[in-house]
Amino acid sequence: MDISNLILTFKSDLEKVEKNISQFLMGDIHVLNRVGDYIKASKGKRLRPILLLLTAKILGNENEVRYKLAAIIELIHTATLVHDDIIDNSEMRRGNPSVNNVFGNQVSVLAGDWIYMTCFNLALKERNFDLLEILMEVTLKMVEGELFQLDLLEKIDITKKETFEIAKRKTAYLFSTAMKLGAIGLNYEKSLLEKLGRIGINLGMAFQLKDDILDYIADEKNLGKPKMRDLLEGKVTLPLILLLEREDGDFRKKIERVMKEKDYGAISRDILLKKLIDSGALEESEKIAMEYGERGIEEIMDLPENKYRDMLIEIGKFIVYREK
Ligand code: IPE
Ligand code: IPE
Ligand code: MG
Ligand code: MG
Repeated sequence: MDISNLILTFKSDLEKVEKNISQFLMGDIHVLNRVGDYIKASKGKRLRPILLLLTAKILGNENEVRYKLAAIIELIHTATLVHDDIIDNSEMRRGNPSVNNVFGNQVSVLAGDWIYMTCFNLALKERNFDLLEILMEVTLKMVEGELFQLDLLEKIDITKKETFEIAKRKTAYLFSTAMKLGAIGLNYEKSLLEKLGRIGINLGMAFQLKDDILDYIADEKNLGKPKMRDLLEGKVTLPLILLLEREDGDFRKKIERVMKEKDYGAISRDILLKKLIDSGALEESEKIAMEYGERGIEEIMDLPENKYRDMLIEIGKFIVYREK
């Protein structure tokens, strides 16, 4: 499953977004430019801007501000990743050494802050309170999500409900925001905005749950970051929650030791992976991720029928079937 055809269709639109990103990442401090250049050279999938631009196309929204908003959304995502890699002590991102790995934590904390503030400043210039509110709210939700997750780190009794809440805050709200911003500048009904929001939430949930699955089964080269890291970071995600439901106390103790010792001494990677597969826990996780994806796609069908709507459905499928 890949979305390269779709990206090709949006090539000229995405180029405008890239131009904005480049411009927005320029400051008058030398070190910020070095960080900015590094970030620009190590691109991600640009999924959130694509969602925003695609939504605009579906709705026939030609408002030029969408290029700016798409860049802002991608930069909020970027700032989150810069901070997240410090928090998680991650060394790799997008197949390259992470920003914190190259520039150190001090510079990376401030560079992340700078990117957030740049985003709000750019949004402020639009003199649009709705826009500012949407961006502030989503950023708050994401920070709260990271804090909520930190608080639940190394908790073996984390519930499914809690993981869903983390996924929603960390990831789904930003997807939801990207979809809603595709309508900005239009005279839309409140119900349309709510629908777009729900589609984004469902696609975002599917995306994060799939990310938690890929942590166990992805090809590291594809993923651009090492795998089976979540547990070492103290994160008990859905596949493991489902496996724990099926296992005994001895297994729980081993998992607790892995988190404490931050290595797979108590149980090997291979054995854990085999259990996740044989128990059906991974399969059930895939099913749950897919259900979110399907719920999103179901509501996409209520949007105006055109070729862009079909593309959004393709994205929905990509999110669930992706390998990176
Ligand atoms: C990574 O998001 C963080 C999560 C929400 C799991 P992406 O996988 O969209 O990151 P990039 O931008 O493509 O690197
Ligand atoms: C990524 O979260 C950052 C957010 C979505 C806020 P994770 O820590 O779960 O994801 P990776 O594995 O670093 O991409
Ligand atoms: Mg994290
Ligand atoms: Mg992380």
